[in-house]
Amino acid sequence: MHKTVQDILNMKKEKKRISVITSYDYTLASLCDKSGIDVLLVGDSAGMVMLGYENTIPVTMDQMCMFTEAVSRARENSLLVSDLPFMSYQVSIEDAINNSGRLIKAGSDAVKLEGGSVMAETISAIVDIGIPVMGHIGLQPQTTMLSQGYKVQGKTKDTAMRLIEDAKELEEAGVFSIVLEMVSHEVAEIITETVSVPTIGIGSGVSCDGQVLVVQDLLGMYDKIKPKFAKRYMNLSEDIVKSLDIFKKDVESGVFPAAEHWFSMNEEELKKLREQIGS
Ligand code: KIV
Repeated sequence: MHKTVQDILNMKKEKKRISVITSYDYTLASLCDKSGIDVLLVGDSAGMVMLGYENTIPVTMDQMCMFTEAVSRARENSLLVSDLPFMSYQVSIEDAINNSGRLIKAGSDAVKLEGGSVMAETISAIVDIGIPVMGHIGLQPQTTMLSQGYKVQGKTKDTAMRLIEDAKELEEAGVFSIVLEMVSHEVAEIITETVSVPTIGIGSGVSCDGQVLVVQDLLGMYDKIKPKFAKRYMNLSEDIVKSLDIFKKDVESGVFPAAEHWFSMNEEELKKLREQIGS
């Protein structure tokens, strides 16, 4: 049985830190799931790291459903959460419920959406029909990115107060956890102490109840943007390019494939074949 929303809520009570990693495809999701990561997040960052868009704005519901289906085939242990992409929940509550339902039917256990108090009513409506919601405040790539770029949120008293109020309203609306993206670590600590649901930080310091990273950042596979918070645990792109270079040389020199990589006919059959074609 995989982890549930209740398990994630209990982790905060038990003071156990929560690990979250983004996943978009079957192969990497299987490895993340096997490693014991608590939550697999099918983030709309897929638009950038999987599809090569400049930002998350162009991502569609169809794409998010496809990524979610792939990850759900791999998932055995972790909780699976999927992002509602830009404009799939902002226009109407009906849209938000329909699109949340699509992600659940694609195999997700919960949905994530960006926004503070302005999204409280929408979140309540989704939660009321039985779909768990993860909130996301601070830097919101679908919107704050457009107006401010990558900027730390909550550096002044007033912006900090707004974030704290947003977190409280999301809690009241029924979220089971809140992503805090690029929030100053002092404000992230206050929010974490204030709300009863787990906070999941990305660039928001060590006081959050959990941490999330984009898997390509962690593995060192995506070089276009290198945020300060994205700790690289390895430099896989270097190893991949090295391996591909060796493969190319092996093909050119005839070193690959070797006998252990190909298949042979039965000798008797080969003899008969040669006789028939006269070679
Ligand atoms: O889309 C995403 O990957 C996210 C995480 C960075 C939290 O929202």
